[in-house]
Amino acid sequence: MTPTPAGSGPSGTRDGVGLRLPAPALRVVEATDDDAAPLVALWTACGLTRPWNDPERDIADARSTPTSTVLVGHVDGAAGAAGAGILVSGAVVGYDGHRGWLYYVAVDPAWQGRGFGRETVVAAEAWLAAQGAPKVQLMVRRTNADAVGFYQALGYTDQETIVLGRRFPVAQGGPDVG
Ligand SMILES: CC(C)(COP(=O)(O)OP(=O)(O)OC[C@H]1O[C@@H](n2cnc3c(N)ncnc32)[C@H](O)[C@@H]1OP(=O)(O)O)[C@@H](O)C(=O)NCCC(=O)NCCS
Repeated sequence: MTPTPAGSGPSGTRDGVGLRLPAPALRVVEATDDDAAPLVALWTACGLTRPWNDPERDIADARSTPTSTVLVGHVDGAAGAAGAGILVSGAVVGYDGHRGWLYYVAVDPAWQGRGFGRETVVAAEAWLAAQGAPKVQLMVRRTNADAVGFYQALGYTDQETIVLGRRFPVAQGGPDVG
């Protein structure tokens, strides 16, 4: 997990006389090489990694095509943050020519519950719309009731479809994704 600097967090920082200052704003941008390691740490902290997936490869693959990318949310101005700030959210987006898809949406547990998840998804939707995608959708595990509640709060509805899949044998050179 991305470390939250001491004295900062979801409720903002305290100044020298103990007044609570506004919490920093989120800035969502396309990921750079420097974001890969903290993003994998974030996904790990949020329980989104799976043994059969390689998150570093997932990041590299999503950044390698013109119709997919990785978005990260940075918080600037937090105590101890330097340069691009600290990474507190992320999402993978892709347009397959028919629909836009969201994957790996996550907010650092220390920064959840203050709108950063919504801001990250809104930025992802804007990126997909700019690609020409008419629709966005995602897959969520049935056991992840919190995520379902989050997406419903953002206006997402059950598409009443069954997701079917088949893994390509690695020997065929196909992607090993789950
Ligand atoms: C799901 C997740 C991204 C939400 O991030 P967050 O920053 O805490 O969410 P926000 O504060 O932006 O919440 C946005 C809205 O969703 C609502 N919401 C959030 N969690 C909710 C829940 N469990 N049930 C109902 N509504 C919920 C909020 O009340 C808020 O509503 P509002 O904007 O109308 O006030 C975050 O909890 C997370 O990273 N979870 C672990 C990873 C995960 O499961 N990702 C989804 C993979 S499919």
